[in-house]
Amino acid sequence: MSGDQGDAPTCKMEKLQLTDDLEESEFFRTYSRLETHLDLLKDSARTMAYKDAIQQNRELFEGKVVLDVGCGMGILSIFAAKAGASKVIGVENADIAALAMQIVKENGKENVVNVVKGLIEEVELPDGIQQVDIIVSDWMGSSLYVEGMLHSVLFARDKWLRPGGLVLPNVGNLWIAGACDPHRSLNNGFWNNVEGFDMSSVKYAVAHEAVVDCVASQNVLTNSFLVHSTLLERAPNEPIKFRTVFALEVLRTGIIHSMILYFDVGFFVGQTEKPVTLSTSPQSPWTHWEQTVLHLDKPVYVQANERITGGIGMFPSAHNSRCMNFELRVRSKEAQGLVSHFKYFTSSQKL
Ligand SMILES: C[S@@+](CC[C@H](N)C(=O)[O-])C[C@H]1O[C@@H](n2cnc3c(N)ncnc32)[C@H](O)[C@@H]1O
Repeated sequence: MSGDQGDAPTCKMEKLQLTDDLEESEFFRTYSRLETHLDLLKDSARTMAYKDAIQQNRELFEGKVVLDVGCGMGILSIFAAKAGASKVIGVENADIAALAMQIVKENGKENVVNVVKGLIEEVELPDGIQQVDIIVSDWMGSSLYVEGMLHSVLFARDKWLRPGGLVLPNVGNLWIAGACDPHRSLNNGFWNNVEGFDMSSVKYAVAHEAVVDCVASQNVLTNSFLVHSTLLERAPNEPIKFRTVFALEVLRTGIIHSMILYFDVGFFVGQTEKPVTLSTSPQSPWTHWEQTVLHLDKPVYVQANERITGGIGMFPSAHNSRCMNFELRVRSKEAQGLVSHFKYFTSSQKL
């Protein structure tokens, strides 16, 4: 945990604000790039989940006013218009908003969809609209809460959603499991000799990174434990901060090198027999969120049917409110008795 210890508190606040401003412009610069949106649109597990959820619930959309928070290139707005919404407002702060307007036109939805460029926290809705029936948004980041966009959706809900209105998706769940990494020593060894040069200091620099990576389903050694849930129609709009104790059952004998985090979101509305869920678990089809890997410093040897316990905490980073810090404890039975592994991680550059 760092910080400019010598500064007077007011200077520190100003510095933090400035850092946050820079990071905010970087965030929206990333979302102004076409490639970022191409990656999202090509993630068919993601895009199809939204399409299915909206189209399977046409009766909920027909004649309704819909707000798309962070509409990007406008795909969710167009889905909503196609499902019969009478008015869709897509709000987007990044420059990609200009393209969204064109795309809406190209698809003949300009009489239904209005794209408004600006921050959801600052815009007025067009035509004097004061209330909406449905909010749709793809707000999720890695480990569900990285990127912090949930707060923008909850802000919009508190400002414009009519009583009894819907937020889609309406549930987000974060899960933890234990996994092995058969390439761990190879990956670690890489830095010892990079074309004949010692770069082993990199190993220590990255040891506390919450790494976004694809975990093969056969490398998951435990069941999963539900760490945290958000019900979007009810959750208070407060910073995400929690500590959860977990217990995991080992499914296969092996070595746990890391704990992994993944999430799912649910569209639990309407009369549909099989509500749509979008899962980023290693057992589900690949998504651009992949999984978040928290590498342990020492391997944990486990036997099938044994239980391992621990705790996971998640808190906004002091350096960038869109990043999250994690604290992880894993307890395992080893030859010498109960061993506790404890480590901090961050999704930011600094703890
Ligand atoms: C993950 S993308 C989703 C884009 C689009 N809805 C889709 O599904 O392809 C999130 C979008 O929300 C926008 N966004 C994030 N926070 C916002 C805010 N506070 N106000 C307006 N737009 C925001 C980003 O610029 C980004 O384009």
